[in-house]
Amino acid sequence: MSVQACIYEDALEAAVHCAAKILELLKGGLAVTPRAALAISGGSTPKLMFQELVKARLDWSRVHLFWVDERGVPPTDPRSNYKLAKEAWLDPAGFPSGNVHRIQAEREPELAARLYATEIREFFQLGPDELPRFDVIHQGVGPDAHTASLFPGQPLIDDDKGLVAAVYVEKFQQWRVTLLPGVLRAAQTTVMLVAGEDKAEALRKILQEPYHPRKYPAQIVNGDGRNVLWFLDRAAAKGME
Ligand code: 6PG
Repeated sequence: MSVQACIYEDALEAAVHCAAKILELLKGGLAVTPRAALAISGGSTPKLMFQELVKARLDWSRVHLFWVDERGVPPTDPRSNYKLAKEAWLDPAGFPSGNVHRIQAEREPELAARLYATEIREFFQLGPDELPRFDVIHQGVGPDAHTASLFPGQPLIDDDKGLVAAVYVEKFQQWRVTLLPGVLRAAQTTVMLVAGEDKAEALRKILQEPYHPRKYPAQIVNGDGRNVLWFLDRAAAKGME
């Protein structure tokens, strides 16, 4: 298991280094393949990282962008993960709209999940039972140790075969559409960006407690020789020092 955790002074420094790593990994992929696929998460923490990606000197025309999860809201809603990335990164960077594969979460949840799964199958030209291999998947962690929209106790956490699912998140009274664990684990590299003291206890459990993903869903990214890079600020890493 290659879990590398880097601890930075604050959220901005962690975001800057995470953005730099994503660019490095994408450039590495583009050196050997005609196009690269990146999946990003939402929430509040990645905004600083998106603002860093605007400054990048990269030919985005060969990078295809997907989302790890989305809230069941229109793309104009302030809670939309798509809206966050669009305003903080895609529009300022002039990211090619033809390379943006957003989750149509404004639709009926199961339909939105099916449409997104079809988009992924077509893009990666997947055969039956095949999983996509994203070059990079960026994820965050919630104070309850959730990641993507996989929350503690959810049966979806055991789904290693499916691509995408719609899930009702009771605590937020909200439908979400999320990539499933098999897809998250199939990524060539996973970058975890986690900041803030409210994440410290969850992070300690995710990285130091025995493997129990139903309790600590973000544990699903570790294990099996996976490349997982954790970018943490000092506040989030407090429980590990
Ligand atoms: C979302 C995310 C989610 C996020 C964590 C952390 O849609 O909310 O994709 O998994 O990464 O909730 O969110 P914060 O960065 O806001 O703490």
